[in-house]
Amino acid sequence: MNILVTGASKGIGKAIAEELQDTGNLFVTGRNIEALESLNSKGFCACNLAEDISELITFIKKNKIDVLINNAGEYIYGAIDSVDFDKINHLYNTNLIAPTKLIAAAVTNMKEKKWGRIINIGSISGVMGEAHAGIYSASKAGLLGLTKALALELAEFNITVNTINPGWVETGLGMNSIEESDFSKEEIIECIPQRRFVKPEEVAKLVKYLITEDAKGITGQGINICAGLSVGI
Ligand SMILES: NC(=O)c1ccc[n+]([C@@H]2O[C@H](COP(=O)([O-])OP(=O)(O)OC[C@H]3O[C@@H](n4cnc5c(N)ncnc54)[C@H](OP(=O)(O)O)[C@@H]3O)[C@@H](O)[C@H]2O)c1
Repeated sequence: MNILVTGASKGIGKAIAEELQDTGNLFVTGRNIEALESLNSKGFCACNLAEDISELITFIKKNKIDVLINNAGEYIYGAIDSVDFDKINHLYNTNLIAPTKLIAAAVTNMKEKKWGRIINIGSISGVMGEAHAGIYSASKAGLLGLTKALALELAEFNITVNTINPGWVETGLGMNSIEESDFSKEEIIECIPQRRFVKPEEVAKLVKYLITEDAKGITGQGINICAGLSVGI
């Protein structure tokens, strides 16, 4: 098994990389080289997903990646008429366009092997709407559309495609998004049925399960891990 985790330098991606380090040959990517070097991996490719990703595409093909974890992502908060167009491009490139291209690059080998796992990290914001985060929500909803279509297209090759939708997770991105919002940490916790943030390790363990043979029947799904947030209040 040749695994690639994007955004492995911190947060949820780091937890996923640590969880999977003994599952197969682990490869990682992100922008922070020092953080990537500190992981116990077989190799890394530093890359900004919003810019030229050609080196990472070559890296995926060379290392015959058959488990692709599209985790890297960014968040922007603001009224739709206040967001700079360059930031819109940056967010869609990072959260949706690059993950789509990485899947395209990895799938040829998976088809030859007649086995593969594609796991995207979406967000509850792509399942429900999030006011003032329309671009982020749309980028994550896009992953869900891609997941369903590719699950159908790739089913005959034993390739499963799923998207995990976390609610609030205790990471830099999660905590910064609270700071940028109009709500305090306490107010956010009041809206979560379990009154807690999800831990990165909980997402990582779900990823690990989706890679196993036991999970081969799970494909085309958006799986929410949100401490009850998506159900209602
Ligand atoms: N935290 C939450 O509450 C939450 C909730 C729902 C969904 N999510 C999703 O979970 C995923 C991981 O988020 P997180 O909370 O772990 O965030 P994080 O702690 O900010 O980590 C983000 C990771 O993505 C990488 N990354 C970001 N922009 C990149 C770019 N342009 N090119 C390459 N790498 C880039 C970062 O790499 P460098 O540090 O090396 O730059 C870092 O490794 C994201 O897709 C996010 O949308 C998070």
